[in-house]
Amino acid sequence: MSFRLFVSILVFTGAAASFSRAQTVPTLQIKADQVVAKASPTLYGLMTEEINYSYEGGLYGELIRNRAFKANPTNAVYWNTIGNCSISLDPATPLNGALNMSLKVDTGNASANSPAGIANDGYWGIPVRPNTTYRASFYAKAANGFTGPLTVAIVSTNGNAATVESRVMSPRAAEFAASFGAHHSGTAAYASAQIPRLTGDWQKYEVRLTTKNVKPSKDCRFVITAGSPGTIWFQQVSLFPPTFNNRPNGNRPDIMKLLADMKPAFLRFPGGNYLEGNTIETRFNWKNTVGPVEQRPGHLDDGWGYWSTDGMGLLEFLEWCEDLKMQPLLAVYAGYSMRQAHVAPGADLEPYVQDALDEIEYATGDANTKWGAQRAKDGHPAPFPLTYIEVGNEDNFDRTGSYDARYTQFYDAIKAKHPNLQIIATTRVTTRTPDLTDEHLYPNSEGAMEARAHEFDNHIRTGPKIFVGEWATRVGAPTPNMAGALGDAAWMTGMERNSDIVLMASYAPLFVNVSRPSRGAGGSMQWPTDLIGYDALTSYGSPSYYAQQMFSTHHGDVILAMDATDIPVKAGPAPARRGGATNQPAATTPQLPALFSSVTRDSSSGTIYVKVVNTLGTPQPVKIQISGVASVASDGDAVVMKANSPDDTNSITDPTHVAPVTEKVTGLGTDFTREFPPYSITILELKAK
Ligand code: AHR
Repeated sequence: MSFRLFVSILVFTGAAASFSRAQTVPTLQIKADQVVAKASPTLYGLMTEEINYSYEGGLYGELIRNRAFKANPTNAVYWNTIGNCSISLDPATPLNGALNMSLKVDTGNASANSPAGIANDGYWGIPVRPNTTYRASFYAKAANGFTGPLTVAIVSTNGNAATVESRVMSPRAAEFAASFGAHHSGTAAYASAQIPRLTGDWQKYEVRLTTKNVKPSKDCRFVITAGSPGTIWFQQVSLFPPTFNNRPNGNRPDIMKLLADMKPAFLRFPGGNYLEGNTIETRFNWKNTVGPVEQRPGHLDDGWGYWSTDGMGLLEFLEWCEDLKMQPLLAVYAGYSMRQAHVAPGADLEPYVQDALDEIEYATGDANTKWGAQRAKDGHPAPFPLTYIEVGNEDNFDRTGSYDARYTQFYDAIKAKHPNLQIIATTRVTTRTPDLTDEHLYPNSEGAMEARAHEFDNHIRTGPKIFVGEWATRVGAPTPNMAGALGDAAWMTGMERNSDIVLMASYAPLFVNVSRPSRGAGGSMQWPTDLIGYDALTSYGSPSYYAQQMFSTHHGDVILAMDATDIPVKAGPAPARRGGATNQPAATTPQLPALFSSVTRDSSSGTIYVKVVNTLGTPQPVKIQISGVASVASDGDAVVMKANSPDDTNSITDPTHVAPVTEKVTGLGTDFTREFPPYSITILELKAK
């Protein structure tokens, strides 16, 4: 789109380190009366899948790890014994066909003074907060003389709660805490409750555990203990904290709040590799993810190496969209899994096409349709809005080249029933014209990303629209640092300037549990450089998160013409920074612009949003000239995020080290010069008439 954005750059020789300041001040000439195109209202969205403990151990509220004992077929992983107790997996005592395994617990010679039972440490700790009610539930049956009671509790693993709690806990809880602490040194109860009686049949039990005015902690575990001998079987052992909007089976409020603050337009789900699985059997088979949670068999997320209970199922994804007012962008399984398994187009593919049609009906059908009725039965009578369907994920990896024919089969069947749905292809197809094509990019240095920031400027405007369904500057781990954010912001200026063709975009991956941020066994991260990090207790946004939040909450509805002249340059692309994927420095380092910008306007208020990304380590004055307006107020706002070093970052212990600050600015007008700080992303809000 070179006709509307003219970039001239000042050429310097040598590396960035020897960059010397231009005599000529870079200039942005903004033509406010020349609307180049409408800005896409759906540009800034989210992409999600089960990776890095995104749902289990992440957004999904469940606190118990391996609640259905299916994470490992031979071992009750993540469960421990308390006291003189033995546990084993028991396939002979299933709860039902889906949860076809149970945990058999033999409480040995347990007594009131020497309780025995089971403990779960959750996903790197069970979190507790003050004055909070947790809902514990499980199915259980008993034999060999055991009839109850059972004590259910959240206890500390380091004894810290005892001093706080002993002053405030109920007499019964205090008794339990004293008994528990006496027999398990270093532990104390934050909250406890009793199940008085068990029978010989499976039955569901529920209790509420309410903490007092305790200090927040994740050094806790969930325990169920008995004070007498016998055998107890457990299944679907669950502990839920309060959830966002109080949804049953819902999401963690702190992470939902971070997402809500981004004001995302859509959510692409359920993947990603998670949609496809390594094999057809381990795909995201949506029909196994709806209905009561105790009827969901779960499946191995073999792409990323851990078990999913599918507690976060199709309905929960749709409700997540509803809660954050996002459009669902539903990716349907398209007959290709990552280890080169594919379903032949034609008759073999028909059941999968039907599955997709059923899935669309589950989301959008009324109660007179089979799957709409199922959704109503599952608790959501109202249909969900749905505009976007993506057929598969990264089908360019299908070496047989079957995607063209598979896409066609899905496209024709979906369009025949739902002509208004927009159908996204995951790679180039020739037999149909997709409504959008999904492109993914993961450059592993900020320079490599910045080098692509102008690639849409000259893109043909006649083909399918573009959905950048996965993108990220992979610099920094587990979450991107300021260098990553600068690369991301440069890239976003390019997407925003060209959002007449780039209609939608979503960073990936969205989430990472940072408790054990390694990719090895026992690690909580499969993919470094993720937008939002958390442990069991708290969460934080990376600098890239804040860059996106800034862009997403400050864009108008039209793109203005702009000439950018005398833009300084630097050497690039730079080698990968610490924490990113490996990258070889280019043999020759072509020069890159060092300053990136885009300009949009809110046509109803007149506000002009000028975004400027200064990737240099030196302050950069920029002249901003605006034509085609009667006036620009001298006062306005500037939202600025800056860092002292590109390595600066955020973390669980320093969550807002790099974060945007809104400043009042004066001296604005139709012709002014502003100095942009080193390593900074700035959005100027200009009140124009
Ligand atoms: O975002 C991580 C992975 O990258 C996605 O699952 C996949 O689509 C891509 O290759």
